[in-house]
Amino acid sequence: RALLRRLWKGDASARMLHPRLQKAMGAYLRANKHGVNFRGRRAAGRSRAELLCALRGRVRVRTLDGSEPPFSALGWRALVPAVPLGRLLPHGLRTCAVVTSAGAILNSSLGEEIDSHDAVLRFNSAPTRGYEKDVGNKTTVRIINSQILTNPRHHFTDSSLYKDVILVAWDPAPYSANLHLWYKKPDYNLFTPYVQHRQRNPNQPFYILHPKFIWQLWDIIQENTKEKIQPNPPSSGFLGILLMMSLCSEVHVYEYIPSVRQTDLCHYHEPYYDAACTLGAYHPLLYEKLLMQRLNTGAQGDLHRKGKVVLPGLRAVRC
Ligand code: C5P
Repeated sequence: RALLRRLWKGDASARMLHPRLQKAMGAYLRANKHGVNFRGRRAAGRSRAELLCALRGRVRVRTLDGSEPPFSALGWRALVPAVPLGRLLPHGLRTCAVVTSAGAILNSSLGEEIDSHDAVLRFNSAPTRGYEKDVGNKTTVRIINSQILTNPRHHFTDSSLYKDVILVAWDPAPYSANLHLWYKKPDYNLFTPYVQHRQRNPNQPFYILHPKFIWQLWDIIQENTKEKIQPNPPSSGFLGILLMMSLCSEVHVYEYIPSVRQTDLCHYHEPYYDAACTLGAYHPLLYEKLLMQRLNTGAQGDLHRKGKVVLPGLRAVRC
């Protein structure tokens, strides 16, 4: 609870986390399994306007377009969707919703508000059926990690969760963004199921995020944080928020920074409890959330009661 209040105010630190989470963070820092080598400069004191300006200047949503090796030689230029992700949705998307999968969204009655947005982004295997009252039922984009494509438990090829939506997949690549290394040794091999799905469903927009986009966002989080953050990719949630900030005029994010309903229940749709889901062990989640707290233009009451953060679209930012 004390940590939650500090998060709402924006002055939380990893030192306030449960010792178990602090230990896990330390282990990830020492392992540095993606070979992160941060060369940027710390600029932790930026104002909201300066932060937005930095985001607008640097964040470029990028997906694999088949123009670079090894993908160019594998015929990916013809395999990826002809229309780039950035040009797929109408330019006039006014407000968009990002719905995290946090357990805290249960009993929120946010469903109607969420569905009133022009586009709705959801994550991984988070369902709507049976949870409409709290999470709504509209899905425009779904961001999926490579485990969704490779773990048979998720039934990627036949589950309705992955049909009739724009799919955006990602997998942790080396920080160097060396595509050869990544192709040879992805975290989970998403390339084979991606090719298969593109061949079978050529009309469904389906993209893979470029590692440069992912690590660019990591650099921005580290740059704007005083502490050393976990050297692992940002969470799907953070990737999704920045994607929608690039596509929409305004983004409403639900239960990313937790509301008063905060709970250790990891996901609203499964009975699994772990504080790491909300505060981070592998992903630099605490720091992602502190950054979003600094960018929030919404009312403090909406943050507490709805777990809602309101962010401007990057196109509208004036520097
Ligand atoms: O767990 P999963 O990655 O599928 O959840 C989607 C996103 O929702 C996460 O990447 C994270 O950003 C956010 N989330 C959260 N708190 C939780 C569960 C998920 O902030 N308890």
